[in-house]
Amino acid sequence: MIRVSVPATTANLGVGYDVLGMALDLKARFTFEPSTQKLEIIGDEPAFATPENLIYRAFVTFADAIHQPVPNLRITVDSDVPSARGLGSSATCVVGGLAAANAWFHAGWDQAALLKLATQLEGHPDNAAPAIYGQVCATILVGDEPIVRQYPVSQQLHFVVLIPPYAVSTEEARNILPATMSYADAAYQMGRCVLMTRALADGDLALLRQVAQDRMHEPYRAKLIPDYQAARQETAAHDGVLLISGSGSTMLAIIGDAAGAEQLQKAAAQRWPEWQVRIVTPSEQGEQVVKTGDFSEKAEH
Ligand code: HSE
Repeated sequence: MIRVSVPATTANLGVGYDVLGMALDLKARFTFEPSTQKLEIIGDEPAFATPENLIYRAFVTFADAIHQPVPNLRITVDSDVPSARGLGSSATCVVGGLAAANAWFHAGWDQAALLKLATQLEGHPDNAAPAIYGQVCATILVGDEPIVRQYPVSQQLHFVVLIPPYAVSTEEARNILPATMSYADAAYQMGRCVLMTRALADGDLALLRQVAQDRMHEPYRAKLIPDYQAARQETAAHDGVLLISGSGSTMLAIIGDAAGAEQLQKAAAQRWPEWQVRIVTPSEQGEQVVKTGDFSEKAEH
């Protein structure tokens, strides 16, 4: 059996659109075993229990990439990462499927090779990189080769995810963005993106407050999240900074002390009883794979 655990990720970190992402301690866990049927998917929403399932598609993509036949598989899903909420659920599936196939076929791919294929499947690297490497990652693409560097996050910062019960489609949230931006806005954005990594590493909430003012996507996407302004006010009332997590609908509040984070969690849970409101911590680790037994030779094809 192969067990893979992959962290949720919060992409963009406001001003780092398609570049920055941070791994969180919410995990998706997948197991992969040989099956007598072509495909069994257990524990996922019934609508996802088909060969179109992203976990399976990633596994098949990996098998195709190394010219191996796809085995009959039973995939069991146990995920704390909600779908279509901006917490990298699709990256958990893609990275989970690729990492499992890497172990299944003894392929020995390193993290960089996994990220390259994950980025092709995802279309952008900012969830996949921290899902693989952990921590805050900044990723650029040179052609289709990702280059990643990790950044630490100060323990002085505390994070609360505010997860509304409604989904935002990433496709829609990308389609509403303008096609171009001015030099002035690009310069504004670059400075803030660079200093965001420093503010997170230093736990500098005052700097974070300044650099969190995005011009590239949040002003457009805020309109897709009906409670965005209210969530921003609630976070500000607890002296925190609010970012849209990925393409939403989840919002990530950053607070300067643990008591403030707990108070925000309590207040938000009371105000929005339908929401999931959780204190989360950055995950040092990306995907983890544990393999028990050696069955790949014996698996039915
Ligand atoms: N960087 C991507 C976006 C993340 O904001 O569209 C999507 O999860």
